[in-house]
Amino acid sequence: MRIFKTTAVVIGMALVLSTAAFAAGDAKKGKMLFDDANFAGGSVSCSSCHPDGKEMEKAVMRGKKEWKNPGGTWLSLEDANNVCIILANKGKAIDPKSAEMKDLIAYFKSLKK
Ligand code: HEC
Repeated sequence: MRIFKTTAVVIGMALVLSTAAFAAGDAKKGKMLFDDANFAGGSVSCSSCHPDGKEMEKAVMRGKKEWKNPGGTWLSLEDANNVCIILANKGKAIDPKSAEMKDLIAYFKSLKK
């Protein structure tokens, strides 16, 4: 009985950790996308205007409610990312719930000191 419980707890924890890792995105992949001139079908990289993700750590500050870029003011980070993708990178908006969007945001979070 005790062994059964321990096994169940270990499996449960593994499940929680793996879904958390998936939901949180992959910062390394996010950096690759950020540096990729052809990301989302565009022709300039995010990092050409935001070198090394400069200031992007502020975009993931807790409690932030508005994001500003040359396209306007946005109520979600995903929208702000997509507007830069469209207007600045000359690419096509990506799904706000996609792995790529999560990877980008994970990269921004990794920049926080
Ligand atoms: C042609 C230049 C340019 C490119 C390329 C560009 N951006 Fe921006 N972006 C700006 C400017 C200018 C601002 C507004 C000033 C600032 O925050 O640096 C901005 C603002 C932002 C903000 C809002 C920051 C905040 O805290 O309110 C986010 C998020 C953002 N950009 C993400 C991206 C992403 C992701 C990419 C690549 C898909 C990208 N940008 C590509 C110029 C660019």
